[in-house]
Amino acid sequence: MATPSTTLWKLEPHTLGKHMVLRSYLDAWLPVMSSWRRRLLFIDGFAGPGEYVDGEDGSPQIAMKALANHSAKIEAEVNFIFVEIKQDRAEHLAGVIEKLKSTLPSNSSIHVENDEFDKTMTNLLDGLDEDGKKLDPAFVMIDPFGPAGTPMSLVRRIMQQPQGEVYFSLMYESINRWHTELPQHLDELFGSPDWQKCAAIQDGESRRKCFYDLYEMQLRDAGAKHVVHFNLFAKNRLIYSIFFASKHEKGCDLIKSAIWKIAPEGGFEFRSGQEDQLAFSLLPDFSLLIDQLRQQFGDGQWHDIAEIEMFVRSDKTHFYSAQLRKGALIPLESDGEIEVNPNTRSRMNSYPKGCLLRFS
Ligand SMILES: C[S@@+](CC[C@H](N)C(=O)[O-])C[C@H]1O[C@@H](n2cnc3c(N)ncnc32)[C@H](O)[C@@H]1O
Repeated sequence: MATPSTTLWKLEPHTLGKHMVLRSYLDAWLPVMSSWRRRLLFIDGFAGPGEYVDGEDGSPQIAMKALANHSAKIEAEVNFIFVEIKQDRAEHLAGVIEKLKSTLPSNSSIHVENDEFDKTMTNLLDGLDEDGKKLDPAFVMIDPFGPAGTPMSLVRRIMQQPQGEVYFSLMYESINRWHTELPQHLDELFGSPDWQKCAAIQDGESRRKCFYDLYEMQLRDAGAKHVVHFNLFAKNRLIYSIFFASKHEKGCDLIKSAIWKIAPEGGFEFRSGQEDQLAFSLLPDFSLLIDQLRQQFGDGQWHDIAEIEMFVRSDKTHFYSAQLRKGALIPLESDGEIEVNPNTRSRMNSYPKGCLLRFS
Protein backbone atom coordinates (compact mmCIF):
# COMPACT_ATOMS: atom_id res chain seq x y z
CA MET A 1 0.00 0.00 0.00
CA ALA A 2 1.26 3.50 -0.81
CA THR A 3 1.75 5.68 2.26
CA PRO A 4 -1.51 7.60 2.71
CA SER A 5 -1.43 11.38 2.46
CA THR A 6 -4.95 12.04 3.69
CA THR A 7 -5.71 12.72 7.37
CA LEU A 8 -7.57 9.41 7.74
CA TRP A 9 -7.06 6.28 5.71
CA LYS A 10 -8.59 2.86 5.35
CA LEU A 11 -7.64 0.23 7.91
CA GLU A 12 -5.63 -2.48 6.18
CA PRO A 13 -7.01 -5.87 7.28
CA HIS A 14 -3.62 -7.18 8.49
CA THR A 15 -3.31 -4.17 10.81
CA LEU A 16 -6.11 -5.71 12.87
CA GLY A 17 -3.65 -8.33 14.16
CA LYS A 18 -1.41 -5.59 15.56
CA HIS A 19 -4.40 -3.93 17.23
CA MET A 20 -5.83 -7.15 18.67
CA VAL A 21 -2.51 -8.05 20.31
CA LEU A 22 -2.10 -4.50 21.59
CA ARG A 23 -5.58 -4.51 23.15
CA SER A 24 -5.11 -7.88 24.75
CA TYR A 25 -1.61 -7.07 26.04
CA LEU A 26 -2.73 -3.78 27.61
CA ASP A 27 -5.67 -5.53 29.25
CA ALA A 28 -3.21 -7.81 31.00
CA TRP A 29 -0.40 -5.25 31.47
CA LEU A 30 -2.46 -2.55 33.19
CA PRO A 31 -3.54 -4.51 36.30
CA VAL A 32 -0.20 -6.30 36.64
CA MET A 33 1.83 -3.09 36.48
CA SER A 34 -0.69 -1.07 38.46
CA SER A 35 -0.46 -3.52 41.35
CA TRP A 36 3.14 -2.51 42.02
CA ARG A 37 3.84 0.87 40.39
CA ARG A 38 2.12 4.20 41.03
CA ARG A 39 2.67 5.68 37.58
CA LEU A 40 2.65 4.09 34.15
CA LEU A 41 3.36 5.49 30.73
CA PHE A 42 1.94 4.60 27.34
CA ILE A 43 3.87 6.28 24.55
CA ASP A 44 2.56 5.99 21.01
CA GLY A 45 5.42 7.37 18.93
CA PHE A 46 3.62 7.24 15.57
CA ALA A 47 0.11 7.77 16.84
CA GLY A 48 -1.81 8.61 13.66
CA PRO A 49 -5.20 10.37 13.77
CA GLY A 50 -6.77 8.02 16.37
CA GLU A 51 -9.27 6.41 14.02
CA TYR A 52 -9.60 5.05 10.49
CA VAL A 53 -11.79 6.31 7.70
CA ASP A 54 -14.55 3.78 8.44
CA GLY A 55 -14.49 4.59 12.15
CA GLU A 56 -12.32 1.74 13.49
CA ASP A 57 -10.19 2.63 16.50
CA GLY A 58 -6.56 3.57 15.99
CA SER A 59 -3.90 2.66 18.53
CA PRO A 60 -4.42 5.76 20.76
CA GLN A 61 -8.10 4.91 21.19
CA ILE A 62 -7.32 1.25 21.79
CA ALA A 63 -4.91 2.22 24.57
CA MET A 64 -7.24 4.74 26.20
CA LYS A 65 -10.21 2.36 26.04
CA ALA A 66 -8.12 -0.43 27.56
CA LEU A 67 -7.85 1.79 30.63
CA ALA A 68 -11.34 3.33 30.52
CA ASN A 69 -13.15 -0.02 30.14
CA HIS A 70 -10.95 -2.21 32.29
CA SER A 71 -12.86 -4.62 34.50
CA ALA A 72 -10.28 -4.22 37.28
CA LYS A 73 -9.74 -1.01 39.20
CA ILE A 74 -6.48 0.44 37.88
CA GLU A 75 -5.08 2.45 40.77
CA ALA A 76 -1.92 3.64 39.03
CA GLU A 77 -1.80 7.00 37.33
CA VAL A 78 -1.60 6.23 33.61
CA ASN A 79 -0.09 8.91 31.41
CA PHE A 80 -0.49 8.79 27.64
CA ILE A 81 1.87 10.54 25.27
CA PHE A 82 0.84 10.50 21.62
CA VAL A 83 3.36 11.74 19.07
CA GLU A 84 2.25 12.54 15.54
CA ILE A 85 4.27 14.49 13.01
CA LYS A 86 1.43 15.62 10.75
CA GLN A 87 -0.53 18.55 12.05
CA ASP A 88 -3.89 17.52 10.53
CA ARG A 89 -3.60 14.05 12.08
CA ALA A 90 -2.50 15.42 15.45
CA GLU A 91 -5.51 17.78 15.40
CA HIS A 92 -7.86 14.98 14.45
CA LEU A 93 -6.44 12.89 17.28
CA ALA A 94 -7.00 15.75 19.72
CA GLY A 95 -10.69 15.73 18.67
CA VAL A 96 -10.93 11.96 19.20
CA ILE A 97 -9.36 12.35 22.64
CA GLU A 98 -11.76 15.13 23.56
CA LYS A 99 -14.69 12.71 23.12
CA LEU A 100 -13.05 10.00 25.21
CA LYS A 101 -11.48 12.06 27.95
CA SER A 102 -14.39 11.97 30.35
CA THR A 103 -14.37 8.14 30.39
CA LEU A 104 -10.82 7.98 31.74
CA PRO A 105 -9.89 7.92 35.42
CA SER A 106 -9.28 11.41 36.79
CA ASN A 107 -5.65 10.60 37.68
CA SER A 108 -4.71 9.84 34.07
CA SER A 109 -3.27 12.41 31.68
CA ILE A 110 -3.05 12.70 27.91
CA HIS A 111 -0.57 14.70 25.94
CA VAL A 112 -0.45 15.05 22.14
CA GLU A 113 2.87 16.16 20.69
CA ASN A 114 2.74 17.33 17.09
CA ASP A 115 6.36 16.54 16.28
CA GLU A 116 8.83 13.82 15.36
CA PHE A 117 9.02 10.77 17.57
CA ASP A 118 12.83 10.64 17.60
CA LYS A 119 13.12 14.27 18.68
CA THR A 120 10.29 14.07 21.25
CA MET A 121 11.54 10.88 22.87
CA THR A 122 15.14 12.10 22.86
CA ASN A 123 14.08 15.33 24.60
CA LEU A 124 12.10 13.38 27.18
CA LEU A 125 15.01 11.05 27.96
CA ASP A 126 17.55 13.90 27.97
CA GLY A 127 15.36 15.79 30.47
CA LEU A 128 15.18 12.76 32.74
CA ASP A 129 18.95 12.22 32.49
CA GLU A 130 19.58 15.85 33.43
CA ASP A 131 17.35 15.49 36.50
CA GLY A 132 18.88 12.12 37.42
CA LYS A 133 15.48 10.44 36.98
CA LYS A 134 14.26 7.36 35.18
CA LEU A 135 11.31 6.83 32.89
CA ASP A 136 8.20 5.44 34.60
CA PRO A 137 7.42 1.89 33.48
CA ALA A 138 6.65 2.52 29.84
CA PHE A 139 5.09 0.69 26.95
CA VAL A 140 6.45 2.40 23.86
CA MET A 141 4.70 1.70 20.58
CA ILE A 142 6.78 2.52 17.51
CA ASP A 143 4.58 2.11 14.49
CA PRO A 144 5.93 3.94 11.45
CA PHE A 145 4.94 3.55 7.80
CA GLY A 146 8.52 2.76 6.77
CA PRO A 147 12.01 2.36 8.22
CA ALA A 148 12.75 6.09 8.74
CA GLY A 149 12.81 7.90 12.06
CA THR A 150 13.15 4.83 14.27
CA PRO A 151 16.86 4.51 15.07
CA MET A 152 18.20 1.63 17.13
CA SER A 153 20.16 4.20 19.17
CA LEU A 154 16.83 5.51 20.49
CA VAL A 155 15.40 2.03 21.08
CA ARG A 156 18.59 1.35 23.06
CA ARG A 157 17.93 4.34 25.29
CA ILE A 158 14.39 3.07 25.97
CA MET A 159 15.66 -0.42 26.71
CA GLN A 160 18.23 1.02 29.10
CA GLN A 161 15.42 2.35 31.30
CA PRO A 162 14.47 0.03 34.16
CA GLN A 163 11.09 -0.79 32.64
CA GLY A 164 10.93 0.31 29.06
CA GLU A 165 9.17 -2.05 26.68
CA VAL A 166 8.99 -1.60 22.96
CA TYR A 167 6.27 -2.73 20.52
CA PHE A 168 7.94 -2.10 17.21
CA SER A 169 6.58 -2.48 13.68
CA LEU A 170 9.43 -3.68 11.50
CA MET A 171 8.20 -2.74 8.05
CA TYR A 172 9.55 -5.77 6.28
CA GLU A 173 8.02 -5.22 2.87
CA SER A 174 9.40 -1.72 2.52
CA ILE A 175 12.82 -2.75 3.86
CA ASN A 176 12.95 -5.63 1.42
CA ARG A 177 11.74 -3.58 -1.52
CA TRP A 178 13.53 -0.29 -0.97
CA HIS A 179 16.76 -1.21 0.75
CA THR A 180 18.96 0.11 -2.07
CA GLU A 181 17.30 3.52 -1.81
CA LEU A 182 17.31 3.85 1.97
CA PRO A 183 20.82 2.95 3.11
CA GLN A 184 21.09 5.65 5.76
CA HIS A 185 17.68 4.87 7.27
CA LEU A 186 18.54 1.19 7.40
CA ASP A 187 21.90 1.87 9.06
CA GLU A 188 19.97 3.76 11.73
CA LEU A 189 17.12 1.29 11.99
CA PHE A 190 19.44 -1.68 12.52
CA GLY A 191 22.11 0.35 14.32
CA SER A 192 24.64 -1.36 12.07
CA PRO A 193 25.57 -1.58 8.38
CA ASP A 194 25.34 -5.38 8.58
CA TRP A 195 21.87 -5.34 7.01
CA GLN A 196 23.74 -5.01 3.69
CA LYS A 197 24.91 -8.61 4.03
CA CYS A 198 21.27 -9.64 4.37
CA ALA A 199 20.19 -7.52 1.40
CA ALA A 200 22.68 -9.37 -0.78
CA ILE A 201 21.09 -12.78 -0.10
CA GLN A 202 19.23 -14.07 -3.16
CA ASP A 203 16.78 -16.48 -1.53
CA GLY A 204 13.80 -14.49 -0.16
CA GLU A 205 13.22 -16.51 3.00
CA SER A 206 16.92 -16.59 3.94
CA ARG A 207 17.09 -12.85 3.31
CA ARG A 208 14.11 -12.20 5.59
CA LYS A 209 15.56 -14.43 8.29
CA CYS A 210 18.86 -12.59 8.09
CA PHE A 211 17.15 -9.17 8.51
CA TYR A 212 15.08 -10.48 11.43
CA ASP A 213 17.98 -12.21 13.17
CA LEU A 214 20.02 -9.04 12.87
CA TYR A 215 17.21 -6.88 14.25
CA GLU A 216 16.67 -9.27 17.15
CA MET A 217 20.40 -9.41 17.88
CA GLN A 218 20.58 -5.63 17.94
CA LEU A 219 17.61 -5.45 20.33
CA ARG A 220 19.34 -7.86 22.68
CA ASP A 221 22.56 -5.88 22.42
CA ALA A 222 20.50 -2.77 23.28
CA GLY A 223 19.41 -4.39 26.55
CA ALA A 224 16.34 -6.49 25.73
CA LYS A 225 16.32 -9.78 27.61
CA HIS A 226 13.26 -11.09 25.80
CA VAL A 227 12.42 -10.56 22.16
CA VAL A 228 9.29 -11.98 20.56
CA HIS A 229 7.93 -11.22 17.13
CA PHE A 230 4.80 -12.04 15.19
CA ASN A 231 4.06 -11.62 11.51
CA LEU A 232 1.23 -9.80 9.77
CA PHE A 233 0.24 -11.15 6.38
CA ALA A 234 -2.10 -9.97 3.63
CA LYS A 235 -3.07 -13.34 2.15
CA ASN A 236 0.35 -14.96 1.67
CA ARG A 237 2.35 -11.74 1.57
CA LEU A 238 4.32 -10.85 4.70
CA ILE A 239 3.73 -7.13 5.13
CA TYR A 240 5.46 -6.47 8.41
CA SER A 241 6.21 -7.91 11.81
CA ILE A 242 5.85 -6.63 15.33
CA PHE A 243 8.90 -7.04 17.51
CA PHE A 244 8.23 -6.87 21.23
CA ALA A 245 11.28 -6.28 23.40
CA SER A 246 11.35 -6.31 27.19
CA LYS A 247 13.71 -6.87 30.06
CA HIS A 248 11.13 -8.75 32.07
CA GLU A 249 9.89 -12.28 31.61
CA LYS A 250 6.42 -11.33 32.89
CA GLY A 251 5.99 -8.94 29.93
CA CYS A 252 7.23 -11.67 27.61
CA ASP A 253 4.69 -14.10 29.04
CA LEU A 254 1.85 -11.58 28.63
CA ILE A 255 2.73 -10.72 25.04
CA LYS A 256 2.95 -14.42 24.10
CA SER A 257 -0.45 -15.00 25.64
CA ALA A 258 -1.82 -12.02 23.66
CA ILE A 259 -0.30 -13.35 20.42
CA TRP A 260 -1.80 -16.81 20.99
CA LYS A 261 -5.22 -15.15 20.99
CA ILE A 262 -4.76 -14.03 17.36
CA ALA A 263 -2.97 -17.27 16.41
CA PRO A 264 -4.57 -20.01 18.51
CA GLU A 265 -2.55 -22.75 16.85
CA GLY A 266 0.68 -21.14 17.96
CA GLY A 267 1.93 -19.98 14.56
CA PHE A 268 2.72 -16.42 15.73
CA GLU A 269 1.24 -14.98 12.59
CA PHE A 270 -1.93 -13.19 11.64
CA ARG A 271 -3.51 -13.50 8.20
CA SER A 272 -6.21 -11.02 7.39
CA GLY A 273 -9.61 -12.67 7.13
CA GLN A 274 -8.83 -15.27 9.78
CA GLU A 275 -10.29 -13.25 12.67
CA ASP A 276 -13.75 -14.81 12.16
CA GLN A 277 -12.27 -18.28 12.47
CA LEU A 278 -10.31 -17.68 15.65
CA ALA A 279 -12.94 -19.21 17.90
CA PHE A 280 -13.02 -22.44 15.86
CA SER A 281 -9.32 -23.17 15.64
CA LEU A 282 -7.77 -26.54 16.34
CA LEU A 283 -6.39 -27.34 19.76
CA PRO A 284 -2.76 -26.39 19.99
CA ASP A 285 -0.08 -29.04 19.74
CA PHE A 286 1.96 -28.99 22.93
CA SER A 287 4.48 -31.62 21.83
CA LEU A 288 7.04 -28.91 21.08
CA LEU A 289 6.70 -27.50 24.59
CA ILE A 290 7.07 -31.00 26.02
CA ASP A 291 10.23 -31.55 23.94
CA GLN A 292 11.64 -28.22 25.05
CA LEU A 293 10.99 -29.06 28.73
CA ARG A 294 12.62 -32.45 28.30
CA GLN A 295 15.67 -30.85 26.75
CA GLN A 296 15.91 -28.11 29.34
CA PHE A 297 15.18 -30.09 32.49
CA GLY A 298 15.73 -33.75 31.56
CA ASP A 299 19.02 -34.04 33.44
CA GLY A 300 17.64 -36.37 36.11
CA GLN A 301 17.82 -33.64 38.77
CA TRP A 302 14.95 -32.20 40.81
CA HIS A 303 13.74 -28.86 39.51
CA ASP A 304 11.64 -26.32 41.35
CA ILE A 305 8.38 -25.45 39.58
CA ALA A 306 9.45 -21.76 39.72
CA GLU A 307 12.44 -22.55 37.52
CA ILE A 308 10.22 -24.34 35.00
CA GLU A 309 7.67 -21.53 34.99
CA MET A 310 10.40 -18.96 34.46
CA PHE A 311 11.59 -20.89 31.40
CA VAL A 312 8.07 -20.99 29.94
CA ARG A 313 7.53 -17.28 30.58
CA SER A 314 10.76 -16.38 28.78
CA ASP A 315 11.34 -16.00 25.05
CA LYS A 316 13.04 -19.40 24.92
CA THR A 317 9.68 -20.89 24.02
CA HIS A 318 6.62 -19.66 22.12
CA PHE A 319 4.35 -21.07 24.83
CA TYR A 320 3.18 -19.11 27.87
CA SER A 321 2.91 -20.02 31.51
CA ALA A 322 -0.87 -20.60 31.70
CA GLN A 323 -0.41 -23.44 29.18
CA LEU A 324 2.19 -25.26 31.25
CA ARG A 325 0.02 -27.29 33.59
CA LYS A 326 -2.63 -28.69 31.23
CA GLY A 327 -0.48 -28.64 28.10
CA ALA A 328 2.60 -30.31 29.50
CA LEU A 329 2.86 -31.21 33.18
CA ILE A 330 -0.37 -33.20 33.58
CA PRO A 331 0.18 -35.24 30.37
CA LEU A 332 3.84 -35.81 31.25
CA GLU A 333 2.96 -36.98 34.74
CA SER A 334 0.16 -39.26 33.60
CA ASP A 335 2.57 -40.85 31.06
CA GLY A 336 5.02 -41.46 33.90
CA GLU A 337 7.57 -39.15 32.30
CA ILE A 338 7.86 -36.83 35.25
CA GLU A 339 7.97 -37.57 38.90
CA VAL A 340 6.75 -35.11 41.51
CA ASN A 341 8.31 -35.12 44.95
CA PRO A 342 5.31 -36.17 47.11
CA ASN A 343 6.55 -34.08 50.05
CA THR A 344 6.16 -30.92 47.99
CA ARG A 345 2.48 -31.14 47.16
CA SER A 346 -0.72 -32.47 48.65
CA ARG A 347 -2.92 -33.04 45.55
CA MET A 348 -2.45 -34.93 42.28
CA ASN A 349 -2.13 -32.79 39.16
CA SER A 350 -1.25 -29.73 41.18
CA TYR A 351 2.14 -28.03 40.96
CA PRO A 352 2.13 -25.50 43.78
CA LYS A 353 4.88 -23.11 44.81
CA GLY A 354 7.90 -25.05 46.02
CA CYS A 355 6.89 -28.19 44.13
CA LEU A 356 9.85 -30.27 42.89
CA LEU A 357 9.76 -32.24 39.65
CA ARG A 358 12.16 -34.44 37.77
CA PHE A 359 12.11 -36.19 34.43
CA SER A 360 12.42 -39.93 34.79
C1 LIG B 1 1.31 3.53 10.64
S1 LIG B 1 0.67 5.09 11.05
C2 LIG B 1 0.24 4.91 12.74
C3 LIG B 1 -0.99 4.14 13.00
C4 LIG B 1 -1.37 4.07 14.45
N1 LIG B 1 -0.23 3.69 15.29
C5 LIG B 1 -2.49 3.05 14.66
O1 LIG B 1 -2.19 1.87 14.88
O2 LIG B 1 -3.63 3.46 14.58
C6 LIG B 1 2.10 6.10 11.18
C7 LIG B 1 1.82 7.53 11.63
O3 LIG B 1 3.05 8.13 12.00
C8 LIG B 1 3.11 9.46 11.51
N2 LIG B 1 4.54 9.78 11.37
C9 LIG B 1 5.34 9.59 10.29
N3 LIG B 1 6.61 9.93 10.59
C10 LIG B 1 6.63 10.31 11.89
C11 LIG B 1 7.64 10.71 12.80
N4 LIG B 1 8.90 10.79 12.43
N5 LIG B 1 7.29 11.00 14.07
C12 LIG B 1 5.98 10.90 14.48
N6 LIG B 1 4.97 10.54 13.66
C13 LIG B 1 5.29 10.22 12.38
C14 LIG B 1 2.33 9.41 10.23
O4 LIG B 1 1.84 10.70 9.90
C15 LIG B 1 1.22 8.41 10.55
O5 LIG B 1 0.10 9.08 11.05
